[in-house]
Amino acid sequence: MNASEILEGLSYQERKVLITLQRTGSGITPEQVLEAGGFSQLVEVMNAASWLQSKGLIVIAESAQRIYSLRSPGIVERGLPERRAVQGIQAAGGSLRMSDLDKVVAKDEVPIAIGWLRRKNLVRMEKAGGETIITLTEQGRSFLGAELEDEKVLRTLMAGDRSEAEIPQAILLQLKGRQDLIAERQVVSRLLSLTELGQQVLSLGVELKEEIAQLTPELIQSGKWKGSSFRKYDINTFAPATYAAKKHPLTRIADEVRRIFVQMGFQEIDDEYVQPAFWNMDVLFTPQDHPAREMQDTFYLKNPSSICLDQDKELMEVIKAVHENGGDTGSLGWRYKWSRKEAERALLRTHTTVTTIRYLAAHPDQPVKVFSLSRVFRNEAIDATHLPEFVQIEGIIMEENASFDMLVGILKEFYSRMGFEAIRVRPGYFPYTEPSMEVEVFWNGKWMELGGAGIFRPEVTAPFGIKYPVLAWGQGFERLAMLRWGLKDIRDLYVTDMDMLRQSPIF
Ligand code: PHE
Repeated sequence: MNASEILEGLSYQERKVLITLQRTGSGITPEQVLEAGGFSQLVEVMNAASWLQSKGLIVIAESAQRIYSLRSPGIVERGLPERRAVQGIQAAGGSLRMSDLDKVVAKDEVPIAIGWLRRKNLVRMEKAGGETIITLTEQGRSFLGAELEDEKVLRTLMAGDRSEAEIPQAILLQLKGRQDLIAERQVVSRLLSLTELGQQVLSLGVELKEEIAQLTPELIQSGKWKGSSFRKYDINTFAPATYAAKKHPLTRIADEVRRIFVQMGFQEIDDEYVQPAFWNMDVLFTPQDHPAREMQDTFYLKNPSSICLDQDKELMEVIKAVHENGGDTGSLGWRYKWSRKEAERALLRTHTTVTTIRYLAAHPDQPVKVFSLSRVFRNEAIDATHLPEFVQIEGIIMEENASFDMLVGILKEFYSRMGFEAIRVRPGYFPYTEPSMEVEVFWNGKWMELGGAGIFRPEVTAPFGIKYPVLAWGQGFERLAMLRWGLKDIRDLYVTDMDMLRQSPIF
């Protein structure tokens, strides 16, 4: 086909794109064509452009760019750990004991601060009398008054995302190497340019000729269709992807967990987030000096700081005896002086085992099959595998001949219905179960630990007059979702990344 034949066959929109490119100059983005050409939608431009490309009149050059954004602007506002460390060391007179570093930066930032203080040559470290002393170097002191390159880049990122080309490579490498600082995404951009053939067609004089894209009854009845030109139908034309509305993947996995347990004959239960330590720990035979009770592991509440146990007075006496000497359970107990005050401390539940034990306490006589899928709280630093709030898949079975094999069987059945090939159990330890086990599932060629399980001890069941064995488990929900979703970082489950959500398949 020669240029004039091609011109003859051009649609209205194709002509419009060509004329726009001629007017604005070649090498502009579809968005610019949209603006300059008076199109109403980008898809019109892209439709016409892909036709023009297939006819050899323009080329659409695609290039992928990496774009960087801040993961948590808070860190930049507060200052990097090494900067706060240097400020703290300076405030302390220019040197500080390494063991005091957690007074100037958060505890979990200490190793990060030390690493970067060293790499940036900001301090000297010397041993003196069994202590390591950190002293600011010349560079450390001058750092106080100056912003380093990496900090400059972070500050510009506060103002908005930047492309790879806008960030010095060495700094980019350094920032990418730091955990949780910046996020990377790929963006494809397109440029439309005229080819020689395109120029040639244009030089023949392209006129805009109206075209009918949609035949209407009115067009037919009025006879207007006669003499009009129609747009050709093209099945290869560009069209934007459309994404169906769907539930969030986590909600879908939660629905699936619920459906499976319900199909297996369980009922769902839940309880309050705020609990007295008594129900979260004491009734579960967890001694009052157990490490999990420490502030670093458990969120205790200020308001209310305690929950009065008058309602559970009788039970409290029984539990006190169980802890102190075993009471009537046949156990020796933990052999210490049990404190009511400690038991009344208010906390955010650290596991949903509190939900199942409370349910058992209220239903001690009949067989029980219940599960819960709900949130728990632990005072943990956020990283790729930990969140301070997460969800547990908890459950119990209480019935006459309940056994360890049955417990493993139930877990196996649940995980196999969730799509996991196999599970295995290892011995574990929980104060409230015997035997106790850790549950692992096989996924993508690896064993992954997903939770704990066991049979409640007599110290737990006897105070409620429970006669039958109680099988219990608590499994991590987010870990399971990560495996199913192929995520390496648990935080990705909770960030709203629209692209990822749109593209997530419905499984
Ligand atoms: N509560 C335990 C946890 O949070 C899990 C568990 C539940 C273990 C029930 C044994 C029995 O890790």
